[in-house]
Amino acid sequence: MTLLSFRKLFWTPFVLLLLSPFSSAKDSNATVPLVIWHGMGDSCCNPLSMGSVKKMVEEEVPGIYVISLMIGKTVIQDTENGFFMDVNDQVAFVCNQLAQDPKLKDGYNAMGFSQGGQFLRAVAQRCPSPPMKNLISVGGQQQGVYGLPRCPGESSHICDWIRKMLNSGAYSDFVQKHLVQAQYWHDPLNDDLYKQHSLFLADINQERVMNETYKKNLMALEKFVMVKFLKDSVVDPVISEWFGFLKQGQAEQTETLQESALYKKDLLGLGEMDKAGKLVFLECDGDHLQFTREWFTAKLLPYIS
Ligand SMILES: *[C@@H]1O[C@H](CO)[C@@H](O)[C@H](O)[C@H]1NC(C)=O
Ligand SMILES: *[C@@H]1O[C@H](CO)[C@@H](O)[C@H](O)[C@H]1NC(C)=O
Repeated sequence: MTLLSFRKLFWTPFVLLLLSPFSSAKDSNATVPLVIWHGMGDSCCNPLSMGSVKKMVEEEVPGIYVISLMIGKTVIQDTENGFFMDVNDQVAFVCNQLAQDPKLKDGYNAMGFSQGGQFLRAVAQRCPSPPMKNLISVGGQQQGVYGLPRCPGESSHICDWIRKMLNSGAYSDFVQKHLVQAQYWHDPLNDDLYKQHSLFLADINQERVMNETYKKNLMALEKFVMVKFLKDSVVDPVISEWFGFLKQGQAEQTETLQESALYKKDLLGLGEMDKAGKLVFLECDGDHLQFTREWFTAKLLPYIS
């Protein structure tokens, strides 16, 4: 996420800010805590991105307990880990942190930005305690990516290197183990390689072995909200933000979640969740992670307050 992408938040009028304390202060200790996971190139606490989201949520929902996850001990480590720390280890780290927080014991809502969206889904599937209530994936790549057209933030030199690694062999053991983006690299032309070697995405999407626990845990969500950015220039293919992907064996035509084998065989319970009205597909008319405060308040706030 670029520093610029959140500027829009500051352009919006503050009328809502003035009104909200009167309407919601009385409910302030009935709020469900919120856990946020940032995207690639970002950190827990950047005042222009996750820091401002946390602050905005705290203003809109007085009394809410918000955790913006820091993966590692420092902000710098946190940003680096978004590129280089094994995703399965990151998920385990987060599960452990959430389990130890007494304020979360009755459950929490989760909001993941970009890759944080698919990482938090893994938390829902692997770690049912404390229980996640609503999962909101904001521009998350639920079926991975097949391309890295543009890199967010000031990390373009890192991205050039990442592209080289992905092209040289995303599914080699070395690259899988050491590069976060390789762990959700989804090559439709090499489906067997993907299924055998993708250490993270193929696992959480039930393409290595079927894990009934994953299905049961995901179906326990109250809502699974997925936001797709209509002018997204970072995620390829963009339909991955709605759990769709490229059709197997080629790299042009896409299919929706509902057209996919994952859905038809209902390997993750998404079909049942869809019929039960638990899946929410939202659009935002901007580039990757670009939204206004009004949009956030109107579209996402209802799922966390
Ligand atoms: C709100 O919190 C206070 C202090 O923790 C508690 O005494 C009170 O019963 C709570 N109110 C509601 C409605 O949960
Ligand atoms: C299924 O997932 C659970 C939760 O992560 C894990 O404990 C278990 O070992 C997994 N089972 C298989 C067969 O992979």
